[in-house]
Amino acid sequence: MKLKLIGVTVSMALYSLTINAQDGEALFKQNCSACHSIGKGKLVGPDLKGVNTKRSEEWIINFVKNAQAFGEKDADAKAIITEYGYPMPNQNVSDADIKAIISHIAANSPAEAVAETTEAAPVEAAPAADPALDPANASKEAVLAGLNIFSGKQRLENGGVSCISCHNVNHDDLVAGGLLAKDLTKVYERMGSAGINGILSAPPFPAMASSYKDNPLTEKEIFQLAAFFNSVSKEDVYSHQRAYNDNILLYGGGVAFLVIVSIILLMFIERKRKCVKEDIYKRQIKSACSK
Ligand code: HEC
Ligand code: HEC
Repeated sequence: MKLKLIGVTVSMALYSLTINAQDGEALFKQNCSACHSIGKGKLVGPDLKGVNTKRSEEWIINFVKNAQAFGEKDADAKAIITEYGYPMPNQNVSDADIKAIISHIAANSPAEAVAETTEAAPVEAAPAADPALDPANASKEAVLAGLNIFSGKQRLENGGVSCISCHNVNHDDLVAGGLLAKDLTKVYERMGSAGINGILSAPPFPAMASSYKDNPLTEKEIFQLAAFFNSVSKEDVYSHQRAYNDNILLYGGGVAFLVIVSIILLMFIERKRKCVKEDIYKRQIKSACSK
């Protein structure tokens, strides 16, 4: 009886452990993988391989929930935020989720590999293995396709809103985009192709994630967008957005207003003209009579 109970307890513990590991993997993929890899190099954020031994569990939980606030108290957090230039966005995950993610990171960080990767993360993201896959070498057609995807001229294969409804890019062929999210003119310089790839395949920002959750971008679309971002970030110096584009709604409204006013004015002049004609007519009649 006792033995059976122990058996049940052990299997329950094992079961919850595997659930935890699975959860950790899914949670990592969903919330962190856009910006972090485990052992595949730096993306938007540092490679997290071995971070479980470099930082305490409590440290990681504090950092993930609110990096900026934590950075004001903790010197290590401050140092890494300064290194990357901006604080990691707060992640809306529970302590238990973070613990599951840490176990997933630990399970994928073999002990002997930890020492080398916990030092400074590699500065450059690993270059794409095949030069044909590097957006910097993309054809003009791919760049143009990226532009059209961004502006919504080309529909996304799986549906989903065009990027321009939330983002702006300075480009001669584009009207001004949304101001809801960051300007992406220089995004390629900021995060490189690995970072853009990560963000577009699993957007970590709630507003964007909900737009593409059921309508994921295809690999081809992501490549074309990256090619476009690479091209605008290089050409931005020469690109001056036409000023009238900035206020298309305002001017459109202004034009409509003028049209309405002129219609009213025309009707008025028309009436007035009749009166004038009538005056002349009467005068003519009078002068005819006085002769
Ligand atoms: C939008 C990109 C982004 C997302 C999403 C993101 N991080 Fe980060 N993370 C960063 C950046 C950038 C840094 C570098 C420090 C900084 O700038 O704040 C960082 C740093 C870290 C660090 C400190 C690493 C070290 O060496 O000390 C940990 C730990 C971490 N992130 C864990 C996570 C976890 C866990 C998730 C998912 C729940 C996550 N991050 C999601 C961008 C992100
Ligand atoms: C519903 C609004 C919305 C749409 C549509 C949208 N995004 Fe975003 N995007 C955001 C938000 C919010 C952020 C978070 C950063 C911010 O506040 O700007 C973001 C961040 C990004 C970033 C990271 C920027 C940085 O420098 O940190 C990239 C890259 C990006 N979006 C690309 C795209 C592309 C490409 C598309 C079209 C396929 C797209 N977005 C469509 C809302 C949106």
